[in-house]
Amino acid sequence: MANIVLLGAPGAGKGTQAALIKEKYNLPHISTGDIFRKNIREGTPLGVQVKAIIDRGELVPDELTVALVKDRLAQPDCKDGYILDGFPRTIAQAEALEGFSKVDMAINIAVENEAVIGRIAGRRMCKCGETYHVSTYDREECAKCGSRLYQRDDDREEVVRERLRVYDEQTKPLIDFYANRNLLRTVDGSGGVDATFELVCKVIDGNR
Ligand code: AP5
Ligand code: MG
Repeated sequence: MANIVLLGAPGAGKGTQAALIKEKYNLPHISTGDIFRKNIREGTPLGVQVKAIIDRGELVPDELTVALVKDRLAQPDCKDGYILDGFPRTIAQAEALEGFSKVDMAINIAVENEAVIGRIAGRRMCKCGETYHVSTYDREECAKCGSRLYQRDDDREEVVRERLRVYDEQTKPLIDFYANRNLLRTVDGSGGVDATFELVCKVIDGNR
């Protein structure tokens, strides 16, 4: 049983590590960004509401995001643990989360800004949730489902800069928030995917 929050800048590798944790520890991976993008793709009322905000690199309002996560964590598959990726992202969201779930650890994937910019620039996504990088995967179709890969609309350079600014201003304070509660575990995310995953596993296993 582990309720895990993944922290880290845009492009740090939260989604990549979450997919590996999900497979090894059999925990549901809940990415608010993926949920929003799915709604945008499907043209739902939520998708219509959040598209312009996400395309500008700003944050979706706390109230809306908190309600969404609260609902999701109430699903039966979360009763033995979960991986939250991209939530909480503000102090208000972290405080709200404390009201309906007990976080066991917040794993911060630490990567320098220059590195995340390169990672985001080369990122390719699949609608099934798989994430690739052009430096390690040069095909245009997903290895898992065969769908055509695409670049995220908010991965344009000027939007990435805004996302990094928003991260520094609103999300970085969560590092202290969880450190103060003795829940923060920082891993060096500057190595490759596998090296980072080894560090992540050590943290998870050490806490069990
Ligand atoms: P979200 O989808 O959460 O985006 P993000 O936080 O900007 O993070 P990313 O998904 O860009 O990066 P990641 O850390 O997952 O990196 P990845 O594993 O893909 O949010 C998008 C938007 O939705 C927000 O801007 C906001 O508008 C809204 N939103 C979402 N949640 C919200 C909330 N709680 N409140 C309000 N608004 C919210 O890796 C990146 C690339 O690097 C990939 O190509 C990958 O293959 C590669 N890579 C990964 N790890 C490594 C490694 N170790 N070495 C080399 N390459 C690597
Ligand atoms: Mg992600």
